[in-house]
Amino acid sequence: MVSYKELGLVNTREMFAKAINGGYAIPAFNFNNMEQLQAIIKASAETKSPVILQVSKGARNYANQTLLRYMAQGAVEYAKELGWEHPQICLHLDHGDTFELCKSCVDFGFSSVMIDGSSLPYEENIALTKKVVEYAHQYDVTVEAELGVLAGVEDDVQAEESHYTKPEEVIDFATRTGCDSLAISIGTSHGAYKFKPEQCTRDPKTGKLVPPPLAFDVLDAVMEKLPGFPIVLHGSSSVPQEYVDTINAHGGKLPDAVGIPEEQLRKAAKSAVCKINIDSDSRLAFTAAVRKVFDEKPGEFDPRKYCGPARDEMTKLYKHKIIEVLGSNGKAE
Ligand code: G3H
Ligand code: 13P
Ligand code: ZN
Repeated sequence: MVSYKELGLVNTREMFAKAINGGYAIPAFNFNNMEQLQAIIKASAETKSPVILQVSKGARNYANQTLLRYMAQGAVEYAKELGWEHPQICLHLDHGDTFELCKSCVDFGFSSVMIDGSSLPYEENIALTKKVVEYAHQYDVTVEAELGVLAGVEDDVQAEESHYTKPEEVIDFATRTGCDSLAISIGTSHGAYKFKPEQCTRDPKTGKLVPPPLAFDVLDAVMEKLPGFPIVLHGSSSVPQEYVDTINAHGGKLPDAVGIPEEQLRKAAKSAVCKINIDSDSRLAFTAAVRKVFDEKPGEFDPRKYCGPARDEMTKLYKHKIIEVLGSNGKAE
C-alpha cells in the first residue's frame, strides 16, 4: 500500500471547493506517455494551475501502472524543478469500471478515482459507487461518480446515444453513495466526432459543422438540487480546426470531426462545473505535429525530432486551455 500523500500528490476536495467558489474549473488531462506528462506539468507549472492527471484503464494497460505511478511521483518533483513551489497535482483513475480496479489504484498511490457505473441500472450504480467510496475514503482518496450516459466511446464502454442526467435523481444518488463529485451528461461526448453531421448546422461561409448547444438547463437544474456540489464534464475537447486541417493536409483523414465550442466550456467553468476532461485535443495536437514532420522531413527518424515538436504543441494547447478556457491559472502558487 502506497499513500498518495507520500508521493506529494493531493486529492480533489480542496481544489474543487476553491474552483466552485472562484468560478473556474480544474483541467483534467489524460496521459499515456512521457511527452504528454512533460507537457501537462510544464503548462501547469508555468501558469501555476492546479491539475488532474488522468489515467484510463487503457492507459494503464498501455504504459504499466507501476511506471505511471512513478511518473506521477516524478511529475511532482519536475514541477518543483520548474519553480512551482507548491504543486497541486492529483493522480486520478478515469472511468474505473470495477471495485477491484478502483481499489488497486487507491492501493497504488492514486489520490482520486472515478467509478463509472453510468451504464448500470440506477440501483446497481449506487451500490457499486457506495462500495468504492467506503473503501477510498478510508485513505482520504476522493471519488467521482457518473449519472447519465454520454454518447460515443469511453474506454471499453460504448453508447450509441446520450441520455441526459435526470436532475430528479441527483440528490438521492449523491446522498446514498457519498461520492465527492458527479459527472453528468448534458450533451458532451468522447472522441473527435462528438456530433453526427445531421445534428449540426453548417456555417454558410466556411462550410464547417456548427454543433448544437449543450443542455445548460439540465446543468442548472442539477445545481439547484445540489448547491455547491462539484460537477464534472467529460468529453470536453473542442477539436481545434487547425489541428484537423494540419492532419488532413499531411496525409490524415478526419472528415467532419467536431468538438465542443470553447465559449460553452468557458460558461460551464464559471458554474459548479469544477473539472473539465480533455484527452482528444491532446491526441490531435500530437498527431498534427508528428504528421507535419513526417511529411516535410521524410528522412527524419530520430523520435525526439517528431515527439519534441508534438510536446511543444501540447504544451501550447494545455496553456491555452488553462488560461483562455478554464481560468485556473494562478490558482496554485
Ligand atoms: O474517456 C476516455 C478517455 O479519452 C480515455 O480514452 O480509454 O482510449 O485511454 P482511452
Ligand atoms: P474528450 O474525448 O472530449 O477529450 O474527453 C475525454 C474524457 O472525457 C476523458 O474521460
Ligand atoms: Zn470521460
